[in-house]
This record gives sequence, structure tokens and C-alpha cells, in this order.
Amino acid sequence: MSAVEIKPGIYWVGAVDWNLRYFHGYLTPRGTSYNSYLIVDDKVTLVDTVKDYLGDDLLSNIKEIIDPSRIDYLVVNHVEMDHSGSVPEIMKVAPQAQIVTSKKGQKGLERHFKPTAEWDYHIVESGSKLSTGKYNLNFVQTPMVHWPDSMVTYIPEASLLLPNDAFGQHLASYQRFDDEIGWEILHEEAAKYYANIVLPYGKQVTNALEALSGLDIDMIAPSHGVIWRQYLGQLLEVYKQWASHQTQKKALIVYDTMWGATKNIALALKDGLEQAGVPVVIRFLQTSHISEIMTDVLTSKAILLGSPTLNNGMLPTMSAFLTYLKGLRPQDRIGMAFGSYGWGGQGAKEVSEAITSFGWEQPQEYVNMLYVPDEEELDEVRRKGKELGDKILS
Ligand code: FEO
Repeated sequence: MSAVEIKPGIYWVGAVDWNLRYFHGYLTPRGTSYNSYLIVDDKVTLVDTVKDYLGDDLLSNIKEIIDPSRIDYLVVNHVEMDHSGSVPEIMKVAPQAQIVTSKKGQKGLERHFKPTAEWDYHIVESGSKLSTGKYNLNFVQTPMVHWPDSMVTYIPEASLLLPNDAFGQHLASYQRFDDEIGWEILHEEAAKYYANIVLPYGKQVTNALEALSGLDIDMIAPSHGVIWRQYLGQLLEVYKQWASHQTQKKALIVYDTMWGATKNIALALKDGLEQAGVPVVIRFLQTSHISEIMTDVLTSKAILLGSPTLNNGMLPTMSAFLTYLKGLRPQDRIGMAFGSYGWGGQGAKEVSEAITSFGWEQPQEYVNMLYVPDEEELDEVRRKGKELGDKILS
């Protein structure tokens, strides 16, 4: 993939990771990209790098524009290795370059790389500016979007925001701009990305959106996926909704089953919710990956979680999902637990306790059925589903 000029003298020079399918727990069926941006001005500036194994692609793209040894500034918006993995390679080629980063960025780079040569740092914080000639780089710290060191770079003369992880999508493509792909796919990937990476940091995202709200921006160039230039309005609107944990009046049922009884309870709950007029998504933990289910969690008001009892507890698949869910901290949800058991019956109880620990409302007592529910019992489950549906719609 060759360099692409996105604004006068500003180039995408990143790398496309076509075959990445697993990103520490997140399935990425469409691959991803690591976007670096080269600003050719009086001072030549590179903003962020790429994963270490794609460093040659980065250098080759830079070489299409200039000799990489001419880089004066290397901006590190975020230390995570998908963006700073090739910092040592750049510093080898351009050892005179100043690394422009936050204090936490400097600490993170030193801890990750333990460089043998001394790197020259230019430390910035929110409000710091750096002139490259006709452009001025403005820095805004956005802690926890995605790590404590995260910051964004804004270039007012180009109405361009380089927000690193924020507004990204895991999507490999030869197109570089949103209008070349279309809102439908990008909305899906941006939502999955938000749900699996940014969801715990709603408050910080809201603060970042407020800090950026007064700025003149006509292009957002994140460090993953394509560059936003057509769908900025839609993107900022959904980010505001996601950051404030706004959901739709719909239900998500997530379950695993051993011999089909918990599945039958899941289907009866689905019937009841649908009788109330609530749209339902149903996900089976043996065939849906937890990172895919998170996209449904992002927008669902009610989340119903079902597991039979195995060895005095819930199934390990449900336990893994709940661990993932706990870390991502969706808020303002209605929860309900259900399950089946042969003896003991701790599975559904444990799931219900997990829901309580998330701070979600739990208007219905958990459903727990001995062995196989009969038709009468399933009718009772349908009635509970209908009641829950009425509550969601109220
Ligand atoms: Fe894309 Fe937090 O790294």
C-alpha cells in the first residue's frame, strides 16, 4: 500500500495488516491497519508508527515522499506497541529526531524499549503547541482513551485531527477514506471497536469530545482503519451516545447449554420479550465469540444471561464472558439470569450475583429449572419474559 496525500503536505504512510485475526482477545475478521502520518513541512514530522513486523512497510512508504533520515519530530500519541512498535527503527534511521510525547509517553517508551542510545524528548501536555512551519501541532491529552499516556494531535491549519485509537475501526483495506467504504460497514466496525476497547472509558470519551468540540475539524484520521471525512457528523453522534451508555429498547440473550434445557429457557424468554414487542438478539456462547457479542451489548438495554450448573458453578464459557463484560463495564442495563440444573443449582445464582455486582437493575428473580422444564414451566418463563419486555418498553 503506497503513501496517500490526505491534506497538502500530509501523507498516510502506515501499514495494512490484512491477515490479523486476533488482537488480544478481539476477533478481527476484517484485519486492521496501523496508520502513521507524515507531515512534510519546514520540519519533517512523523505522527505515530506501526507494529514492529510492519516497520519496513512504513519506511518504504516514507521513502516514496522523502528520505526518512530527514525526520525532525516523531510524535508518539500513544505508547501501545501497535503504534510505537517501530519507534526504534525510525530512531535508528533518524537518530537526531526529537520524540514528541507526554511525560507518561516518555516513561512508557523507556520501559518498553530500554533504548541503548539516548533519545531526545520534547515533552508536551494539553495546550502545548509545536510549529513545523506552515502547520502548528496542538496537543490534547486524552487519558484512558486508550491508555493513561494517550493524547491526540490537532492541526488547525488543516482542520485535521489525529486522534490515535479514538474513532478507529479494525478494518484492512486498500481504500483510505470512509466514503470509499460506506457508513454501514464502518458503523458496524466502529461500534465493535468501541464496545471492545473504549467502552470502559465513557466519561473520558465525553471529556475528550468536549475538549474537541470547539475545534474546526473536517477530517479525523485515526490510527486504525479508514480516515473520516464524509461521516464525521454520524460518527460524533454515535460516539456521544456510546460514551453516555445510551441504549436501544432491545434485549440480548446470551446463553450456553449442556443438554438443551437452558436453551429452551432462553427461547421461552425470547418468546415472552417478543410478545411484549421488544426486538431480541440471541447469542450462543459455543458459536459466537465474546468480542462479537460485545457489539450487541453496546446497544441493548436488557441483557439476559443463561448457564446451566456444572460442578457447583456456571459453565466456563459464561464465566469467561462475564469476566470480559466486567472489564468493559457497560452501565445502565437491565439484567436477568437463568439456567437449569440437576442438583446444587449454583450456576444461575452465580450469574445473578455477577449481574448485581455490575450495578445493573435486576427486576426479575433468576429462573432456575430442575433438569428439563415442562410446557407449563416454559409458559411461566414466557410470562416473565413478557413482564421484562414491558419493563424495557416502559
Ligand atoms: Fe491501537 Fe491502544 O492501541
